[in-house]
Amino acid sequence: MTTTFSQRLNRVKPSSTMAVNAKVLELKAAGREIVGFAAGEPDFDTWPEVCEAARASIARGDFRYTAVGGTPELKEAIVAKLARDNALEYSTAEVIASCGGKHCLFNVMQALLDEGDEVVIPGPYWVSYPDMAALAGGVARFVMASEDDGFLLDPARLDAAIGPKTKLVIINSPSNPTGAAYSEAAMDALGKVLAKHDCWVLVDDVYEFIRYDGARPRHLLTLHPGLRDRAIIANSVSKTYAMTGWRIGYAAAPAPLIKALTKLQGQSTSNPTAIAQAAAAAALSGSQDRLAPMVAEFHKRRDYICDRIDAIDGLSVARPEGAFYVFVNAAGVFEKTGVQDGDALAMKLLEGAGVGVVGGNDFGSRDHFRISYATSLESIERGMDRIRDWLASL
Ligand SMILES: Cc1ncc(COP(=O)(O)O)c(C=O)c1O
Repeated sequence: MTTTFSQRLNRVKPSSTMAVNAKVLELKAAGREIVGFAAGEPDFDTWPEVCEAARASIARGDFRYTAVGGTPELKEAIVAKLARDNALEYSTAEVIASCGGKHCLFNVMQALLDEGDEVVIPGPYWVSYPDMAALAGGVARFVMASEDDGFLLDPARLDAAIGPKTKLVIINSPSNPTGAAYSEAAMDALGKVLAKHDCWVLVDDVYEFIRYDGARPRHLLTLHPGLRDRAIIANSVSKTYAMTGWRIGYAAAPAPLIKALTKLQGQSTSNPTAIAQAAAAAALSGSQDRLAPMVAEFHKRRDYICDRIDAIDGLSVARPEGAFYVFVNAAGVFEKTGVQDGDALAMKLLEGAGVGVVGGNDFGSRDHFRISYATSLESIERGMDRIRDWLASL
């Protein structure tokens, strides 16, 4: 039998971050020592009290299906979190828990998009947005922020990108891959543009707490409550609480959309893992004291890695305000390394320097590669030494 897969699947490419991770694992398995700058996850352990909540969940026998959209306990923790951290009032009918933030975003696109609907995606952008949109029949419309503006989108450009076919606009701050984070004034300016147009707004808050400079701004929906009836907040415990493997994300949106997302989830994954839900509820509602030291550690690494990049001829970086990524402009070393884009350079860095980074092509820029500095300072030092020495040896 010839195996043909669906047309739908042909619309998507494999995740490039996952591809680099796979290659890193392959080289490691073959005995190479690789400095991994590719993984988009905190290198910290999940907090002990959160692990304890999971143990307690097993001890009391949480072994069955839960409600499709999450346990009442987790939904209440999400509602309380939105009030505490974002000054936003939602009810339990307006939130859903899913298998990671990624799952929430995927479901939102499935629920909202029809064939040909446009999704405005500010770039550089997280690799999964365009493919999720394509899988749902949508068409990505990219609007690129300039590196000279610190990768922050000019509101006039956002305005120009939204047209009659726009169904959804994605706002992600701090951003993967650039780390760019909007100030309150800059977010307010985007909100004013969004308020003028009749489209859905998907606010991806997964890095909301990983910010370094200045105060955490009020939420877009707090600044522009008029957007609330056509907005979705997607968030997750993955990055904030070092819980990537637990796979719990959540969304807040108007009740009819949450009902639609629940229907979709009911015919696909059903509930996220019961035990992970108990852990996520504990993370969201317990003491948040362990967060600041983790962010302080990322801050130290951000400063260190930016200084190291600036000291290498041909590499440059717009110093990011948040997340744990730097998006390195490497066009200045393309000739010397014999490559024409960031993806090819990433492969050379992996093979030549033993450093795993992700090329920028699938993030919307061929001039860049992304480094994740969610790894120890010693590893960052070693990785940057290798990049410097390898480039110097050419
Ligand atoms: C911008 C952005 N949104 C959402 C996610 C989804 O994270 P998770 O599915 O682990 O919650 C990621 C993960 O890398 C991300 O970078």
